[in-house]
Amino acid sequence: MKCEYSFNPYQKEEPDWSDPFFDFLKSTDMPEFHRSIDGYAETPLVPMPKLAAEIGVGQILVKDESHRYGINAFKGLGASYAIYRFLKGQWEKKFGDGFSPASFKDPATMEKLGSYTFCAATDGNHGKAVAWTANKLRQRAIIYMPDNSAQARIDHITKENAEVVLVPGTFDDCVAKCASDAEANGWQVIGDTAYPGYMEIPQYIILGYSTIFREMENSINKPGKSDVDFVFLPAGVGGVASAGTSYYALRYGKNRPKIVCVEPKESDCFLESVKNGKGEPLFTKGNQMSIMAGLNCGMPSLIAWPIMRDATELFVGVPDDWAETAMRAYYREGIVSGESGAAALAGLIALMTTDEMKEAREKLGINSGSKVFVLNTEGDTDPVNWKKVVGVG
Ligand SMILES: Cc1ncc(COP(=O)(O)O)c(C=O)c1O
Repeated sequence: MKCEYSFNPYQKEEPDWSDPFFDFLKSTDMPEFHRSIDGYAETPLVPMPKLAAEIGVGQILVKDESHRYGINAFKGLGASYAIYRFLKGQWEKKFGDGFSPASFKDPATMEKLGSYTFCAATDGNHGKAVAWTANKLRQRAIIYMPDNSAQARIDHITKENAEVVLVPGTFDDCVAKCASDAEANGWQVIGDTAYPGYMEIPQYIILGYSTIFREMENSINKPGKSDVDFVFLPAGVGGVASAGTSYYALRYGKNRPKIVCVEPKESDCFLESVKNGKGEPLFTKGNQMSIMAGLNCGMPSLIAWPIMRDATELFVGVPDDWAETAMRAYYREGIVSGESGAAALAGLIALMTTDEMKEAREKLGINSGSKVFVLNTEGDTDPVNWKKVVGVG
């Protein structure tokens, strides 16, 4: 199976985000909130000189989210901030002002607020992050997963004292089942994808992920211009990709680095939307059976889509063997990355080395002088398969 790509015909040099739809992007309290959570540390920015030389780019810098909060993926940033903003809203309705990051950690405040049941659909990492946050707050969590999920990913969630409901079908089937059970039982959905009638919480999730990019203001994201020329981000429903894309578009406007969004070819809803749509998001035509489990999402989030449509340069779809190639390349330079975690690097390697992407790399202008940022979004979340792919153990 070959890689596919499409340059984005809808991209704007300077996106106009004055519409109230985009107002949520003005929030700035996320890093302060994240710093208040026990175990917070900035994730490292790691160079990959061997791979850069091999594939013909000047420099590769990887933000390694496998270290985030000790839960092996970036997703804790989104779930924790979304639950914080939800509870802050509840507090304000009941008691007025005064809910802060310190209140979030305070058992007496939580007791005064009462009990909640949080639920979420997931391919693994987002559900684990919701369970992790709920467990810290001693609240109940119910997580919906496709019934073919790896046992290790199910176990990570039950270890956080959450209940897991296995749903026959895809991630999108889990989203629908979670929404209808929540409606019937009065539970609060903490979903990472926005759909008609469910638009607020996914905004907080995207804001939460933006801490990844804000942390790099201490290093590469300098005032005025970023040190990197290209930014490679993975997309499932587009939460983390739109967090990065909005960050760079708002911080640097038309001087932003060129943003490349990478998806599994078997679950390429953003690529499908820019290639075959009319400016509206489309469902993937793929079978959603990629080993990049976290990216097996059939439809772009309705919050992520307009951001990506306006400010992403190139969309790339990669077959699964490229994810395995990227996992091994990471491992050679001391980085542990799971199947979904490796997707952005998979896109970069494929772009630089395949015949079918030659025109794309030339048009993009990526070459031996380029500085490239890549996001690794997870560690070995399925350790059995990780060992098999990288050839250890
Ligand atoms: C490891 C990993 N990377 C990337 C993603 C994609 O994130 P999003 O769904 O926000 O696009 C996910 C989603 O679950 C994930 O688990």
